[in-house]
Order: sequence, then C-alpha cells, then structure tokens
Amino acid sequence: MTAALELHHITKRFGATEILRGVDLSIEKGERHALIGPNGAGKSTLFDLISGRTRASGGRVVLNGIDISRMPPYRIARCGLARSFQTTSVFAGLSVFDNVRCAASSRFFDRWLRPRVIDQRAHTILDAVGLASRADELAASLSYAEQRALDLGIALATDASTLLLDEPTAGMNRAEAARALDLIRATTEGRTLLIVEHDMEAVFALADRISVLVRGRVIAMGTPAQIRADARVREAYLGDGEVPR
Ligand SMILES: Nc1ncnc2c1ncn2[C@@H]1O[C@H](COP(=O)(O)OP(=O)(O)OP(=O)(O)O)[C@@H](O)[C@H]1O
Ligand SMILES: [Mg+2]
Repeated sequence: MTAALELHHITKRFGATEILRGVDLSIEKGERHALIGPNGAGKSTLFDLISGRTRASGGRVVLNGIDISRMPPYRIARCGLARSFQTTSVFAGLSVFDNVRCAASSRFFDRWLRPRVIDQRAHTILDAVGLASRADELAASLSYAEQRALDLGIALATDASTLLLDEPTAGMNRAEAARALDLIRATTEGRTLLIVEHDMEAVFALADRISVLVRGRVIAMGTPAQIRADARVREAYLGDGEVPR
C-alpha cells in the first residue's frame, strides 16, 4: 500500500545553519500522526517545505506516490494536501461563510460546479466546525478559538486527503483546546493527519503514532505507549517522569 506522505532524508539549511538534518518519515493513509519536539526543533520548517512554501535543501517529499518536492504550493494543494499555520490565517475582512466558500471553490477550480453545490459544501463544513450560526459575521469578529476553528474549516473545505495542522490549539485555554481537539478528531475521520501540538496529553490521546523531532532529527517514532516508554524521549524532550498517562 502506498503511504499518504513520505519524507526521504529531508535536509534544510538557512545559510550555514542546518535546521533539518535528514528527516525520514512515512505516514499511512488515514493515520493520525503527531510531530512533537522542543521550540526551534524545525517542526514548522518541515511543514513549510511539505506544503511548498519553502524548498528542501535535500531529500524528497512524496504525497500519495507523487513526488511533490519541487512543486509550488497551489499544485501541492491540488494533489490533496492542506495545511493550517501556527498563527491564525483567516481573511479577517470576509464573512465566515466566504472564508470557507473560497477554500471550497479553490479545490474544484478545474471542474465546473454549480455555485449552489459549493455553498452547500461550505454550510456543511461550518456546521461541522461549530460555526454555522456565525456564517454571516466577519471573520474578524470571531474569538481567537473560533478563528482557529475557522482555520480548520478552511483546511477541510479544500477536501484535502492529507491535513497538516501546526499547533491548532496554541493560545487557547484548556477548555477551548479540549473542544478544538474533539473537533479535529471528529472532522478528520478517514483523512491523514500530521499535527504539531505541544499539549502532551492531547497528543497521546489523539495520535496513532508520534515522531519526536529534536534539533532537526527524528530521535524516536512509535505509538504513544512506545514514545512514553522511550528513554531518549524522556531525556531529550519530555523531562523526567512528566509523561502523561
Ligand atoms: N527563514 C528562516 N531563516 C533562518 N532561520 C530560520 C528561518 N525559519 C526558521 N528558522 C530557524 O529554524 C529553527 C526551527 O524553526 P521552526 O519554526 O521550524 O521551529 P519549531 O519546531 O516550529 O518551533 P516552535 O515549537 O517554537 O514553533 C529555529 O532556530 C528558527 O530560528
Ligand atoms: Mg513551529
């Protein structure tokens, strides 16, 4: 079976500094995979080069069997990848509905779809992310947590089979973060998910497998139970005895 996303010995240098130092990763279709690691480990940099925002210095990125390493972001999106950013990136001056509608129509650029079909799709997504009642309001009027839910809606509306979510709960309080993660779990059912998340409890509850990135290298990869028991992970990242049960 082809993996959804494969990284083959990815390296990334900024000037003389090597940020990613040979990252290999294979994510199965339908898998929920968490990428964890300390600040500055290179997680967002990895997302940037998977999604085509920057180019790797070396190595290959393969999405559903297609080499996307040298594609621009819009072509990668057409191959079925969507990402959200570490900071919220909604169009503040558009309505909540139009944010999702734009994303929904961008996916179907090469097929003629009746506007009504796209509208229906946008409504379904807004329902799923709990923003149906806010559809006509400006995105700027949403709370921070609601804007992050809208970020998720925008990613989902593209109908991508693989989603990269970069710290979707950053800046939320615990209750908001718990709600957001429930939402992510429910709405990404059947898709492939690669998520960067600092809340360890959330990661251990959500992920099928976890990769630990430290200073540009994957130092461990495995199920939550394997990661929890890994001495190198405890030492390098999780801190002594602070691994959630
Ligand atoms: N455009 C750039 N030019 C030079 N250095 C960069 C650039 N982008 C990122 N870096 C550096 O690369 C390293 C990794 O950054 P990155 O944002 O990928 O880390 P991260 O794992 O996402 O961290 P965090 O958990 O804080 O979000 C950092 O040392 C950062 O300063
Ligand atoms: Mg980051």
